[in-house]
Amino acid sequence: MSLRSIIVGQFKRPHGLLGILAGLIMAKRQSNRKRNLWTVDLLAPETDHRVLEIGCGPGLALKACADKVSGGIVVGIDHSRVMVRQARHRLAREIAAGRADIRLCSLSDVALEPDAYDRVYSLNVVQFFPDMQDDFRQIHRCLVEHGMAATTYQPRSKNPTKKEAFEMATRIETVMKDVGFSDIARHVLRLEPAPAICVIGYKGGMAA
Ligand SMILES: C[S@@+](CC[C@H](N)C(=O)[O-])C[C@H]1O[C@@H](n2cnc3c(N)ncnc32)[C@H](O)[C@@H]1O
Repeated sequence: MSLRSIIVGQFKRPHGLLGILAGLIMAKRQSNRKRNLWTVDLLAPETDHRVLEIGCGPGLALKACADKVSGGIVVGIDHSRVMVRQARHRLAREIAAGRADIRLCSLSDVALEPDAYDRVYSLNVVQFFPDMQDDFRQIHRCLVEHGMAATTYQPRSKNPTKKEAFEMATRIETVMKDVGFSDIARHVLRLEPAPAICVIGYKGGMAA
């Protein structure tokens, strides 16, 4: 196994000591912080919203959401024990207050409550979805009518390019349209060495 595949594996499902390190890198790396906060700004969660993050990692974006959702709840799911531990640590106060919940599970294996969330988002997780159609169908199902889904991706390959980011945006847009999202729009954040894209869409269209 190459060193690169070991590192990629750690971002797909962090585990052991290297996984702890991967979580610390995700929480500290400037591009990751910018991407997380930019996505939360695009989500614009309201005070009483119910928000779900898929693959919450160390919980950076979830914490930023919790700060905005003082009367609602934020839920994070991640299939890595190490990440769930780090996110629970970061959101300990919100969990104690009943305003946050971090669950150990995979999007593909869990049956999310239907019509339950106002916002559902993920950040650099979509590239790991085993079946994008199935996974986006599940995201669509768990949103309330006019709820918003946001999917952010910044390529992390050896030599990442803008083309790679835009190709993923097109794939996401196609799948979202197929499973029933509408008012789909693409946003771009300039970052080095490659931009981040965020594709937003609504179940049943944007609220009037
Ligand atoms: C590259 S990390 C990104 C973490 C976080 N979203 C961030 O940007 O800081 C990907 C995370 O998604 C989780 N993950 C990947 N596929 C998943 C799935 N199908 N269900 C739940 N979690 C998943 C991994 O365990 C990892 O914590």
